Amino acid sequence: ASTLGAAAAQSGRYFGTAIAAGRLGDSAYTTIAGREFTMVTPENEMKIDATEPQQGQFNFTAGDQVYNWAVQHGMRVRGHTLAWHGQQPGWMQGLGGSALRQAMINHINGVMAHYKGKLAYWDVVNEAFADDGSGGRRQSNLQATGNDWIEVAFRTARAADSGVKLCYNDYNIENWNAAKTQGVYNMVRDFKSRGVPIDCVGFQSHFNSGSPYNSNFRTTLQNFAALGVDVAITELDIQGASPTTYANVTNDCLAVSRCVGITVWGVRDTDSWRSADTPLLFDGNGSKKPAYTAVLDALNGG
Ligand code: G3I
Repeated sequence: ASTLGAAAAQSGRYFGTAIAAGRLGDSAYTTIAGREFTMVTPENEMKIDATEPQQGQFNFTAGDQVYNWAVQHGMRVRGHTLAWHGQQPGWMQGLGGSALRQAMINHINGVMAHYKGKLAYWDVVNEAFADDGSGGRRQSNLQATGNDWIEVAFRTARAADSGVKLCYNDYNIENWNAAKTQGVYNMVRDFKSRGVPIDCVGFQSHFNSGSPYNSNFRTTLQNFAALGVDVAITELDIQGASPTTYANVTNDCLAVSRCVGITVWGVRDTDSWRSADTPLLFDGNGSKKPAYTAVLDALNGG
C-alpha cells in the first residue's frame, strides 16, 4: 500500500494524526493529511479550555470543525481530553474540593453528550501520574479532590456514552522499567479487577534524548494488553525523526494484536508543538522524510 492509512489497514489498524483547526485552511496541510491518515485527534480543540471556556457554557465550534473535516475525509476521531490538569480554563483552575469534582463530572457529561455516538475513542483522563520516579499520582487540583477522581471520570464517561472506547492516556509510560509505567499498569489492573470501565491505554510516545525509545516498549504494550485493554500509540513524535526508531515503534505495535493503531502528533515538522526537534514524518515543505518511508515499509511488512 502507498499511504500510511492504507498500509496500516492491511492489518486492521489505523494510522492517525493530530489535526489543528487553525491549519484546515492550508491546502498543503490538508492534502497530505487527507491522503495519508485514517484517524484524527484534535490537537487542542476538544480540551477543557476550548469546550467549556465559561463554567456551564459549552463551545464546540473548533472541535466540530476538526470532527467534520475528519468525517468528510472518511476518518474516525479520537476525543482528547476530558479530565486533565493541563489547559483548564481559568474558572476551573480556581476550583477545588467537591465543587471541582462536580465540575469535572458536569464537563464530562456536557462534552460527551455533544459527541455521543460520533467518536471512536475518548481520552477520558490524561497525564494523571507523576514524573518524580515515585510511580504515584501527579499533584493537581483534580488529584486533591480524592484519589478516586480517575475512576469517577471513567464511570461518568461510560454512563454518558456506552458506545465509545474509554482510554487513559499518558507520556513516559513506554519504558517497562519506569516507575511511572508500573504505576499506570497497577491502576489499570485494579480497574479491570474491580469493574471500573476502561477500554484502552494510550502511550503518547514523545521520544527525545531525555526520554528515549527503549526496545522494551513492545513488552509494555504486551503486558498492558494482557490486562484486557486495547493499546495504542497516541501522540508519536521522535526528536530528529530517526527512521530506525520510527520503524521500531511501528513494529512494536504490529507485534501486539491489541495495538489498534498509531497516531503521530502533527503532519509536518512545522506543525509540531516542538518543531525545533523536526520530529515528524513530513518536512516543512510537505516532503516525505526517511522516517516516513521507514514507517510505510514496516506497515507493508518490512
Ligand atoms: O490559541 C492560542 C492563541 O489564541 C494565542 O494567541 C497563542 C499565544 O500563546 O496561544 C494559543 O494557544 C496555544 C495552543 O497550543 C494552540 O496553538 C497555547 O499557547 C499552547 O500552550 C498550546 O500548546 C499545546 C499543548 O498541548 C498545551 O498543553 C500544543 O499545541 C499541543 O500539541 C500539546 O499537546 C499535548 C497533548 O495535548 C497532551 N500530551 C502532550 C502534548 C504535547 O505537549
